[in-house]
Amino acid sequence: MKVSAKVPATIANLGCGFDCLGLALPLFNTITVEETVLPGSGIEINIIDENNQNDISNIPRDKNNIVYKAIELLYNYIGQSPNELKISIMTEIPVARGLGSSASVIVGGLIAANELLGKPADDAVLLSIATELEGHPDNISPAILGGVVLSDWEPDGSVCANKLPWPDDWVITMCIPDYELSTEISRSVLPNEVPMKDAVYNLRHSAMFVQALHTKDAELMKLALKDKLHQPYRMKLVPGLSGIMNDLKHIDGVIGCVLAGAGPSVAVIQDGSKNDVIKDIVTAAWSNINVDAQIYTMPVYNEGAKIIV
Ligand code: HSE
Repeated sequence: MKVSAKVPATIANLGCGFDCLGLALPLFNTITVEETVLPGSGIEINIIDENNQNDISNIPRDKNNIVYKAIELLYNYIGQSPNELKISIMTEIPVARGLGSSASVIVGGLIAANELLGKPADDAVLLSIATELEGHPDNISPAILGGVVLSDWEPDGSVCANKLPWPDDWVITMCIPDYELSTEISRSVLPNEVPMKDAVYNLRHSAMFVQALHTKDAELMKLALKDKLHQPYRMKLVPGLSGIMNDLKHIDGVIGCVLAGAGPSVAVIQDGSKNDVIKDIVTAAWSNINVDAQIYTMPVYNEGAKIIV
């Protein structure tokens, strides 16, 4: 028997919500999991890069593969170990660009294997297993649930994920540069401790973020998107980012500009009227420093991961 799962891309943090806010976008990875009938055939992992945009040569094809690890954790949850498995990963989501590609394949492997096993795990268990592997819940929750999600991750491993309402007319312009930045490197520049006043600054702004969504208040959202916990430290890893943020600040219709997850992509939240202006500004800023980019405007994707076969 074989099952496929289609899982959206996600962007985490959204400015003020470091490690707790994220949203889903309509770009997908598809993970197929098959229990092979031939005993002793072991694990087979195939990776297909849909748009030929990723370097997939270094992705492990053995038990170190993150999809396999996710599936193994699910089997362990029901007191079993996986035996013969064939896993196919079809990637449409660019890797190491801040679009949640690892969360997407972890979730895809988990929900496909869960279906194969007769659904022993509910969403709460899947959220918790996937977050344990990923290390933070902010990409995992919207990958599973879709839309915009606020996540808590408790010391006992449980994840409390709450969907927030996103105004239909707010869209995201994703600016995806042509280089990779691993989450590991991007987290390594963050301090272990931050000043109390910076923590309180983000606390205020994330509360405003939630209120701005509930009231569809673009002016409040403009204020809310600011951050002092991660973006200031990561600016040096994303050349051109501070200039882009400054240039976009004055454009009517632009609600805000944030680093997508750990970067290096940049997400511009706007009212849908400024696609070309944003594209021109970002293209000019990055081409000055020889960075090519793909720039697309898309809605927030309100559905989560789905079984498709
Ligand atoms: N919240 C995580 C970070 C997201 O910023 O490091 C990584 O995709």
